Amino acid sequence: MTGTTAVSTRELTRVFGQGEVAVRALDSVDLEIAKGEFVVLLGPSGSGKTTLLNLIGGIDEPTSGEITVDDISLAELDGSGRTAFRRDHVGFVFQFFNLIPTLTAYENVRLITDIAGADDDAAATALDAVGLSHRVSNFPAGLSGGEQQRVAVARAVAKMPPLLLGDEPTGSLDLETGRQVLALLHRLNREQGITMLLVTHSAVIAEMADRVLKLRDGRIVDDIRVAAPKPADDLVW
Ligand SMILES: Nc1ncnc2c1ncn2[C@@H]1O[C@H](COP(=O)(O)OP(=O)(O)OP(=O)(O)O)[C@@H](O)[C@H]1O
Ligand SMILES: [Mg+2]
Repeated sequence: MTGTTAVSTRELTRVFGQGEVAVRALDSVDLEIAKGEFVVLLGPSGSGKTTLLNLIGGIDEPTSGEITVDDISLAELDGSGRTAFRRDHVGFVFQFFNLIPTLTAYENVRLITDIAGADDDAAATALDAVGLSHRVSNFPAGLSGGEQQRVAVARAVAKMPPLLLGDEPTGSLDLETGRQVLALLHRLNREQGITMLLVTHSAVIAEMADRVLKLRDGRIVDDIRVAAPKPADDLVW
């Protein structure tokens, strides 16, 4: 573990259930992700992708093994420490945007920047960065799917987390809209240095990553560094 490591796991194992019905969702995973890497996580349904993301993001706790994020050992945190960790160190983007329907785009983002103690203008700046300055007063129902996902991205990055975790962030978008959201994530990675770990089912999306991890049955079975990642605009679907 050095100052250039964003995420490190050692023998990370997560078992759900007990006895005959026990499922080993993650099986002794050793992983190091460097700061600033754009990592895509591929794998069949049930291979452990969401489980890995939830553990790294401090949403779930391992059965055994270690997780270190930004030099913080998650096992050593108590409840309030974990809350602070999630608030200050990670942003999440999910397949279904999870916006609060009764709050406008601006209020959805502002809620999170206030909780994280970010600057007053952080919400507006983030919405501007995702190209939505003209939609800040809309409620989620008055936004397209792509716009809602861009609000969700703004919400996740407004507090400037060092690490962004995405669980199929383009999974419910059409191809062109998905491409725009990916281009946005790529730009945030390149310009702000935010480390990205994104789950996807799309091998095409993997072409824009610095690194592609493949999970199968709770184990990393492939770890590929991409020599020349493609810009999102060049991806052919
Ligand atoms: N809360 C839970 N209780 C019991 N089993 C679980 C739980 N969460 C996940 N599992 C099991 O752990 C395994 C890995 O699940 P996980 O959600 O990580 O897969 P995934 O790779 O994200 O799949 P998908 O692509 O379908 O989202 C699966 O067999 C799943 O059924
Ligand atoms: Mg999943």
